[in-house]
Amino acid sequence: MSSDTMRPAIVRSYAATPKLLSRHDRRMSNEFTLSCVALFIMSPPLFAADQSGQRFDSTAFPQPPRSLDRHRLRADTPAVGHLVHLNNAGASLPPQQVTERVIAHLRLEEQIGGYEAAERVAEEWENGRKSLAQLIGGQSEGIAIMESSTAALHKVLSTVPLHSGDRILVAGAEYAGTVLPLLQLTRRMGVQLDFLPDGPDGTVDADELSRQLRTPTRMVFAVHAPSHNGLINDVIAIGAATRAAQHQPWYVVDACQSLGQLPIDVSQIDCDFLLASGRKYLRGPRGTGVLCVGPRALAELDAFPLDVRGGTWARARDVEIDPTAVRFENYERSVAAGLGLMAAADYAHQIGIGAIAGAVARNAEYLRSHLGGLADWRLLDRGKRRSGIVVVRSTATPPGEIVSSLRRERVNLHVVPATSNPRELGDQPALRISPHAFNNQADLDRALDLLANFSS
Ligand SMILES: Cc1ncc(COP(=O)(O)O)c(C=O)c1O
Repeated sequence: MSSDTMRPAIVRSYAATPKLLSRHDRRMSNEFTLSCVALFIMSPPLFAADQSGQRFDSTAFPQPPRSLDRHRLRADTPAVGHLVHLNNAGASLPPQQVTERVIAHLRLEEQIGGYEAAERVAEEWENGRKSLAQLIGGQSEGIAIMESSTAALHKVLSTVPLHSGDRILVAGAEYAGTVLPLLQLTRRMGVQLDFLPDGPDGTVDADELSRQLRTPTRMVFAVHAPSHNGLINDVIAIGAATRAAQHQPWYVVDACQSLGQLPIDVSQIDCDFLLASGRKYLRGPRGTGVLCVGPRALAELDAFPLDVRGGTWARARDVEIDPTAVRFENYERSVAAGLGLMAAADYAHQIGIGAIAGAVARNAEYLRSHLGGLADWRLLDRGKRRSGIVVVRSTATPPGEIVSSLRRERVNLHVVPATSNPRELGDQPALRISPHAFNNQADLDRALDLLANFSS
């Protein structure tokens, strides 16, 4: 929590020079850490994340997926009374339990002070970390609460030791926010960035990845569900190919659009890092994200740069590092937003990820099947398995005009800029419709009726 007294026990320490470290010095210091740090062994996760309606019961046996309680979902989402929100890949509508948890904590801060309020919710905070871990099949020791997925990515990139000439492989459907810093690294330090050739359906072909990984590779990035295309990458098969590679690349999964939408099990994905946003399908507040750190990364990497939450200036020249993924966190954060994120994880457990995934997929397929029948519209989605993200183009009307027009009718859609992934979108933006489980058929029909006005 945001109090020094709340810090979990620190078990590792290594000497660091207090002067500003160059990247080379830092690498040396990382290598020294490597030799000093004992293996941190995490026990395997005990259950798949989509099954539990129970909070914090990591020993629960898998339950069959529940049917969706859409009545409850809509009752908990007051805006559905006046709004058709189909921009859940941008930011979803939080359930009222989430908003209330955020406001209640802000009120507590107002009444007793921010540090004091954080101490009071310390136990809830750690329980919330467990709830998030359960949602992705991980252990709470591996969970860092972040401000966004991009903040998590940046911490990963500054932590993994990279050298000139190191090769980094990314999926073709990668998000611009991931590719941008990697492109910078090609210029700043001479790493080599290669895009994986797409399989026939636009997803990463694991066999091709295995072939690519015969060449030494430092990192592999795979986006689970891209935001500019409805495909779903098989991150488990990508993980298996990456693990089998001789050179042991670090494997990073972008689960921004899949957290809260699809079952995720990091024990099967076998990634070193999984990054996700809180505000999208999980329905948490803005300004929240999750980083899940795997056992190898916890054992071998120190998290750079540390702040006073993740590390301690113990003696004059000693750095002690938190043994858990907390080392990746920042001391200053919105505790209220973090509690809202955890309330969103609890809510997803209560509704059931299996039930949510089924409803989102049905809603998206309903939209696809009807849009496919409209003149002047072209579906851009690829992939054998598809997510809740429906991306289309009208040959007649620019997406910005369509979004503005529907917003006036209280229907929220989104323009995906071409810069989201110019390799796949070219230089033209597209229209994104991203339903959630709380959307009912009336919502979808309302949007389809309005979109039909843009057909000839
Ligand atoms: C696929 C994907 N990855 C990463 C991000 C970045 O997430 P955040 O805004 O939480 O940093 C987004 C945001 O839209 C995204 O769609």
